[in-house]
Amino acid sequence: MTENHASRAEGCQEAGRRKFLTRLSITLGSIGAALAAIPSVGFLLGLRKTPQIWRTVGKVGDFQIGSTVNVAFQDSSPLPWSGVTAQTAAWLRRTSDQQFVAFSMNCTHLGCPIRWLDDANLFMCPCHGGVFYADGQVASGPPPKPLNQYPVRVQNGEVQILTSPVPIA
Ligand code: FES
Repeated sequence: MTENHASRAEGCQEAGRRKFLTRLSITLGSIGAALAAIPSVGFLLGLRKTPQIWRTVGKVGDFQIGSTVNVAFQDSSPLPWSGVTAQTAAWLRRTSDQQFVAFSMNCTHLGCPIRWLDDANLFMCPCHGGVFYADGQVASGPPPKPLNQYPVRVQNGEVQILTSPVPIA
């Protein structure tokens, strides 16, 4: 074999190796992208369900009729490593003997935690001055809609809130 033929053969081998490595890279990249997209696609298609769980926040007798208090509870899908971030809260008001209403802590503008002002009988958002009436309706400021509410029930003398992802829908 002449030197010319040998160099041409090496060139062909090199081109074949490059082609192979390019195809391998594209294939592995495509597989990686597909694997990375699975959770997002599942979320977009609504395949990933966040469990809703009733959480006990106290006994009926712990709450006075007419008062609004902050109650803390674990969210609906705590992960083993969540720690304190699995804790969430709501504003709970006892409206009658067995009736309660629970408002989300999050302002409907950009999600800041709201505060209940007993003297003013209003919820206030410290971020941009959003104000909500006691029934959760918008009183003033940028919030586009009333406060979200959690379903509440009384079960065996305990007050329970149905946890939902935050912000609750
Ligand atoms: S986040 Fe509450 S007013 Fe903007």
